[in-house]
Amino acid sequence: MAVKKTDKKEMRLDKFLAEMGVLTRSQSREAAKKGRILVNGEAEKRPDRKIRPEEDKVVVDGRPIAYAKYEYYMLNKPQGVVSATEDGRYPTVVELIDEKLRKDLFPAGRLDIDTEGLLLITNDGALAHRLLSPKNHVDKIYFAKICGTLPANAKELFQEGIVLSDGTKTMPAKLETGAEDGILLTIHEGKFHQVKRMFEAVGCQVVYLKRLSMGPLVLDENLKPGEYRKLTEKELEQLQLC
Ligand code: URA
Repeated sequence: MAVKKTDKKEMRLDKFLAEMGVLTRSQSREAAKKGRILVNGEAEKRPDRKIRPEEDKVVVDGRPIAYAKYEYYMLNKPQGVVSATEDGRYPTVVELIDEKLRKDLFPAGRLDIDTEGLLLITNDGALAHRLLSPKNHVDKIYFAKICGTLPANAKELFQEGIVLSDGTKTMPAKLETGAEDGILLTIHEGKFHQVKRMFEAVGCQVVYLKRLSMGPLVLDENLKPGEYRKLTEKELEQLQLC
């Protein structure tokens, strides 16, 4: 029996509408029955029919539906917002991206609720995995303001790796003087509350924390806390090399 080749660029109409956050599968069934969905100008009654999302023009209730396979946003995360897709109590970083097309975006990594700065919001799971995999040791640079006095040999201590309160040792980290009496810390891992715990281990407390970079991605200085923009082609290329 001849095997029918399926075009990888095709997908079911109802799947397309669900991925774009327009209609659930059951809503698509209803909408199609009522002739509310047009494909290339014709009412489509079969929600399970295949479409080519990059070519076919889909309109629901008069609204053209744009397609994006992947989306990538650089967010300057503000304080008071959680690095999650849903939360019962606090606003989430994904909710801040109001121009998103897809409903499956997530933050690639986490910042604490009181941490500001660079966060990548995407639906590209493979890229997120590469950036976050402990094996890849992607550099992350943080700007911190701390309370307390660092030991005179703090740079050497951080360079050797810090033993945290649970007995685990961090990889070598680089401590530098930053602007406005702040400190720059480069780490290569992403342990839970790592920066705060590293400073705690040397008797200091972090009172302000902001992530400035993650691998090749550097926080755009024009983004105020809460603002975001799409990644540029150049940033995307750099990330693909990670
Ligand atoms: N380290 C922390 O302690 N908090 C963050 O949000 C990120 C890194």
